[in-house]
Amino acid sequence: MIIAGNWKMNMDRASAQKLAEDLSGQAASMNNNAQMIVFPPAILIDTVVASRLNENLQIGGQDCHAQPSGAHTGDISASMLVDAGCGWVLAGHSERRTDHHESNQDVAAKASAAIDAGLSVIICVGETLEERMAGKANDIVAEQIEGSLPADLPHDRFALAYEPVWAIGTGQVASPEDVDAMHNHIRDVLVARHPNYAKVDILYGGSVKPDNAAALLALSNVGGALVGGASLKADDFIAIAQST
Ligand code: 13P
Repeated sequence: MIIAGNWKMNMDRASAQKLAEDLSGQAASMNNNAQMIVFPPAILIDTVVASRLNENLQIGGQDCHAQPSGAHTGDISASMLVDAGCGWVLAGHSERRTDHHESNQDVAAKASAAIDAGLSVIICVGETLEERMAGKANDIVAEQIEGSLPADLPHDRFALAYEPVWAIGTGQVASPEDVDAMHNHIRDVLVARHPNYAKVDILYGGSVKPDNAAALLALSNVGGALVGGASLKADDFIAIAQST
């Protein structure tokens, strides 16, 4: 079970230090199988690495470039994340797909670069409200998966995050019934791609909070959560991790 916290463009040095200390301190004494990972803004990765009390708290980047190095002002490479102490990276978050016009092909190239550099990757997919209302959610998500997973992606180096765009940051969490149906569909799409993908964790993201986490995490094809707002508060994030 993966409980991942995407800090997005939030926190500063002092708050990142405190959160890393609190989370790692509590992660050490948690008696379930939740693997906690935080995704700080790139500039705070060093702070989190230096502040965590142990490696029970893992660290990832929110994005990486598809190229290993070169003239790409403002970008960071997958190997820079490894060098900074990261084991993970997100690829294809809906905010990157929207704000930076990232296509499925771009996401696949980034995921591939991440694997080459030695990172594990969480590949994000999810439909908009308009697409859901039009009855296209399953097709859109299948298409995103087909296009965003690079060829030969090893099953033990990635997780897939289903984050319906309409549930992100809105407080409008998807119902357990909808999550169950979509995660079962995603499992079918993954297994059709490779039988080993039966083992890949499928995370749900979108307004996950301490009071709704248990019902979502209990579903058979939900292998964890990708948490935004509630990952910025130690108590909330720990409570989510403890609901597994
Ligand atoms: P919220 O939990 O704030 O809805 O964000 C979800 C998300 O986008 C995590 O990547």
